[in-house]
Amino acid sequence: MKTVLTGVKPTGIPHIGNYLGAIKPAIEMSNDDNYDRALYFIADYHALTSVRDSKKFHEDVYNVAATWLALGLDPKRAIFFKQSDVKEVFELSWMLSCMTPKGDMNRAHSYKDCVAKNTDAGKDPDQGVNVGLFSYPILMAADILLYDTNFVPVGKDQIQHVEIARSIAGRCNEYYGKDTLVEPMEVIGKESSYIPGLDGRKMSKSYDNTILIFSTEKKLKKTINKITTDSSAPEDPKDPNNCQIMTLYRLFANKEQVSALEKRYREGIGWGHAKAELFEVINDHLKEAREKFFYYMENKHLIDEILEDGANRARQIAQKTMQRVRSNITNF
Ligand code: ADP
Ligand code: TRP
Repeated sequence: MKTVLTGVKPTGIPHIGNYLGAIKPAIEMSNDDNYDRALYFIADYHALTSVRDSKKFHEDVYNVAATWLALGLDPKRAIFFKQSDVKEVFELSWMLSCMTPKGDMNRAHSYKDCVAKNTDAGKDPDQGVNVGLFSYPILMAADILLYDTNFVPVGKDQIQHVEIARSIAGRCNEYYGKDTLVEPMEVIGKESSYIPGLDGRKMSKSYDNTILIFSTEKKLKKTINKITTDSSAPEDPKDPNNCQIMTLYRLFANKEQVSALEKRYREGIGWGHAKAELFEVINDHLKEAREKFFYYMENKHLIDEILEDGANRARQIAQKTMQRVRSNITNF
């Protein structure tokens, strides 16, 4: 049995970087017959380390769910659910935290980065750090290990977290027998380079340079028009290999469209026209999905039904794992 699993934090509306770097490859894996079982979940309680606005929290859970469904996740093939609907994860999380050296958490990147920032600013090293943020990797290990996961598709920033999950599983297996937990592996997408944002840096919520997957046509056009360009004149020849409009264009256009636009770059094209071409291909690619997205957002009960069904199926797997783990760890 080969199980693939990944989680998505519902913080903010997903952007094109998330789509190409994470959502699209994960959906492809869920349709790949090399895997027997795919579980995708919304890591809603992981978001509690930073989200304080419960209305936004609620809306973002739906935003993420509607995004994945609109982009083609088939909830019959993949088990699609909300992390917090399967309470077993919190029991496993506690057990795992009792097997994890505190030093491993001290060395986890996101906590270490907070400490480094505070120290540089002359503040208390732990200022603004809650215990949830500190032990975040343990809940993530529980997410993964609860479903006997073999493969975890993630971005580069999450590799350390999967390594931590693997090491916790290995330690439990040493203590309690090698059948206690399955040791997972990360899967990193072919797309090793980052999708650039409006300013040419990695597209990211934290840089405020994103193109949202689903907004109205008008907003999409307006956002694309904000892409930073140089001050060359329209008739000046331009290098198609050194331009983020072109980088994004290549991700959505077919071969013929790409060579046609490259030719226009070399001959001289106004940035406004290049942006209009980019808008056309992105809009074409997302038009149908956008309609589905807004349909789901207006009919949230459909999302509730899908997530509830997913949670029921996920819980069955979780309960089986927990019977085994409880029996190995406590002998009950
Ligand atoms: P953000 O940087 O906007 O906060 P997240 O960290 O929430 O994005 O990313 C969620 C997933 O989307 C990660 O798995 C990450 O690999 C992927 N991702 C985010 N931004 C990009 C990007 N610019 N290019 C490729 N993949 C990305
Ligand atoms: N930490 C991941 C992120 O920030 C989200 C996540 C939570 C996750 N649990 C997971 C990813 C389990 C993979 C497996 O993107």
